[in-house]
Order: sequence, then structure tokens, then C-alpha cells
Amino acid sequence: MTDIQSLERDIESAITAAADEGALEQVRVSALGKKGSISELLKTLGGMSPEERKEKGPQFNTLRDRISAAITARKTELQEQALNARLASERIDVTLPARPEPQGTVHPVSQVLDEITAIFADLGFAVAEGPDVEYDDYNFTRLNIPPDHPARQMHDTFYVSPQRDGSRHVLRTHTSPVQVRTMLSQNPPIRIISPGRAYRVDSDATHSPMFHQFEGLVIDEVTNLGHLKWTLEELCKAFFEVEKVELRARPSFFPFTEPSVEWDLRCDRSTPGKITFGQGNDWLELAGSGMVHPKVLAMCGIDPEKYQGYAFGGGIDRLAMLKYGIPDIRSFFESDIRWLKHFGFAPLDIPTLDGGLSR
Ligand code: PHE
Repeated sequence: MTDIQSLERDIESAITAAADEGALEQVRVSALGKKGSISELLKTLGGMSPEERKEKGPQFNTLRDRISAAITARKTELQEQALNARLASERIDVTLPARPEPQGTVHPVSQVLDEITAIFADLGFAVAEGPDVEYDDYNFTRLNIPPDHPARQMHDTFYVSPQRDGSRHVLRTHTSPVQVRTMLSQNPPIRIISPGRAYRVDSDATHSPMFHQFEGLVIDEVTNLGHLKWTLEELCKAFFEVEKVELRARPSFFPFTEPSVEWDLRCDRSTPGKITFGQGNDWLELAGSGMVHPKVLAMCGIDPEKYQGYAFGGGIDRLAMLKYGIPDIRSFFESDIRWLKHFGFAPLDIPTLDGGLSR
């Protein structure tokens, strides 16, 4: 009896002392394996008298079952410990922010571009696009500016190296070639705006060699300068967020429009550093425009006997400078993060007419 009890105690303390599954397996083999202490004990039953066997048999079997259960329990315990240790070492804090607060803001030029697009979308204009590197033909010739025409000198053009056939591409000097592309690819009625980049050899506080324009084109059977004026008035009211505006027409010249009109917007600049629209005695240049020249319609595949249209174009950078009080155009392109943060707009605040254009 005492032998069995002390054997059980020894094995149990070995089980408790086993620090990992490997050590526990050794304890199991030395007790319950083929040559283990308990197995050896069970073998002695064979040499016993029936009475003795009757007494010892159940004792040995109980011992074997208890040790076997203790090993299983310890095994489960060790597995849990190992798992917990692993979980603790691989722990991540899911409450930490995934990445820092967004740093980016929308550039004032992009903001104004989106604002103008929203205004014209509301008036039923679609957005049309064209490439920055443009055919000489589309930038000039089909806009009624033939090669060697003096009007080409109005534009200080960046020319791209000649093609193999000798033709030259240009960095578009205005967004007007998108008019050509639209007329060549769509049938009237046409109502598009095309905001985008344009390039001219020019650089000072109010001119940048790369700048932004918005182009507008409307072609239908009946269009007139009144429609044009109304459209620009709606643009100004919505863009400058005022109830009333006043536009002044000045005769002008563009080879692709006849008649050509430049528009000024009444404003008040009497308080230094401040500009108010719709009142005052100052005028602000807004856009060039006119009725599309019949020769341009014909060169772009539209019958000038049946259709007429108006077009307009203005500078986006200048509008952004006015609306957001930016004195030097060059600051747009300096990529100064502090400046961008000051003037930038939250990336998810997309301008809409009913949501408010700028907040
Ligand atoms: N393309 C002209 C410019 O850049 C503007 C303009 C557009 C004029 C459309 C008339 C019609 O100055």
C-alpha cells in the first residue's frame, strides 16, 4: 500500500514539475510506457495468487487511471499556458489609430475648378477634355488662326519638337482647342465646359507659364449674345456667392469669334485688401467670348447655315486669387505645405450648389 501511495506521489510531483509537453511526455513514458513503473507493477499481477490479485488488481488499475487522468489534465494546462504566452507576445492594440490624421488638402485651383464645374453642371453643361500637348491645327488653324497669321503672336507658344512629317505640336495656349475636338466628335446641340491647363511663355506675379482656364461652348439652332451674357451672370452670382452682379461688355477681337466680346464684372475695391462684387465703381476682367465664327463651325464639320453658337473662356487662377485673397500667382506652384494647409480645403468637402460652394 505505502509503496503504491509513494509511487503515485512521486509520479504526481513529476507531472506537476513538467514544464512543457516534452517533459510531460517523458513522465508519461516512465510511468505508463511499456517499461514504465506502473506497467511493471501491472505485470506483477500475473505471478500473484487469485486472492492477492483480486485485492491488488483494482488498486493498480485505479492508480493507472488516476495517473493517466493527471497527465491529460496537465497536458491541457500546459497547452493553455503556451497559447496564452503566444497570445500575449503577439498582442496588438486595435484601438490605436490605423494611420495618422490625413495631411492632404485640396489646392485652391482644384477647389475653384470643382466649383466652376458644379455651377455649369447645374446649368446643364457637360465636361469635355482635351490633351495638354495639342495639334497646331486644333490649337490654331481650325480656330481660324492660319499659319503665319499675326494673331499667333498673341500667344507666346511653347512648341514641341517637330514630328517626323514636319508638323509641330504645341502645349495648348488656351483651352479653345477643346471646342474643336467637341465639334468634330459631337452633333449639335452642344453644351460643354472644359476646365484645364494651358501654357504660355510668360512669368511674373500675375502670369504663370502654366495656368488654368475654363472654356465654354454652346451650339444650337438659335443662340445669341443674350444667352451668353445670362450664362456668365449666373456663373458670377454662384461663384462669388452674391445675389446680384453687373457685367459690362467691351468689344474685342478673337479670330475664332465674331463678334467678340470681353466681359468685366462690377466690383468695389475702395477698401484696401477687400473686394466686393455686384457694387462699386471698379471693373474686373472676367472672360473673353463671342459668337463662334462661321468659318470655325465649317472647319469643325458643323453647318453654319443651320447652327450658331457662343463660346467663352476665362482664367481660373485669377478667379481663385480673387475669391480666396491670394496676391501672387506663383504661390500656387511653390508646394509650401503651410500655405496649402492655410488655403487648402478638406478633401471630402466637394462643392455643390445646394451644399454651399466654399465653406
Ligand atoms: N481662348 C481665348 C483666350 O485664351 C478666350 C476665348 C475663349 C475667347 C472662347 C473667345 C471664345 O484668351
